[in-house]
Amino acid sequence: MKLIKVKNYQELSKIGAELLIDELEKLKRPVIGLATGSTPEGLYSEIIKYHKKTNYSFKNVVSFNLDEYIGLPEDDINSYHYYMNDKLFNHIDLPLEQTYVPNGMAEDLEAECIRYEEEIKKTGGIDVQLLGLGVNGHIGFNEPGISFKSRTQVITLNESTRNANAHFFSSGGEVPKQAISMGIKSIMETNKIILLVSGKNKAYALSKFLAGEITEEFPATILHKHKDVTVIADEAALSYEK
Ligand code: F6R
Repeated sequence: MKLIKVKNYQELSKIGAELLIDELEKLKRPVIGLATGSTPEGLYSEIIKYHKKTNYSFKNVVSFNLDEYIGLPEDDINSYHYYMNDKLFNHIDLPLEQTYVPNGMAEDLEAECIRYEEEIKKTGGIDVQLLGLGVNGHIGFNEPGISFKSRTQVITLNESTRNANAHFFSSGGEVPKQAISMGIKSIMETNKIILLVSGKNKAYALSKFLAGEITEEFPATILHKHKDVTVIADEAALSYEK
């Protein structure tokens, strides 16, 4: 595992975007795994800037998002479909039919999870996966206690996760109780992982992750077993003192 220490969120976003773009540029038909939440917003802005400045085309890229809430339609302002369109897809030339986000409105959610895994498999797998870190150690929406063998599945969100995400729902609506998330095994099968960690509120979680004890009670710790993980963390996130 490689740890890149940066000063602040701006630097984290810039360096994260550069790393991701470097990977994309190496590949003919890159498959990327994307995260939502506060952390990657700056990175997505940097990618849009790069696209506008250099004309780098995303026409050959395929993307898979980690997760989506259950019960929110695609055009709901709080859905991750909406987030991705708003923060990235509407501003670059990545064809929307090459972007995958789990369908949280599917009638048969179990079938949707299987379909999602199959879509990933059809592409040959994810080349580079972006991750954020939950304050409780989750990656994707894989909450503490989840099996390291988990595949894409329906997750019941912890109260702490719903609270942490409540600020996104300021325009109305409650944080849904469930989501579909790529599983730990699905994440571990990706070729390269970039984990972004920013801010003082992540300091405890980051210190626990860096301490290295691998446990299902803190799902992110499985990443120590992945062959190619780069963690980019800012000073605030690295500031935990016992
Ligand atoms: C988002 C996701 C989550 C977030 C994590 C951190 O798609 O899968 O694991 O990455 O909850 O969220 P933020 O960045 O909002 O602190």
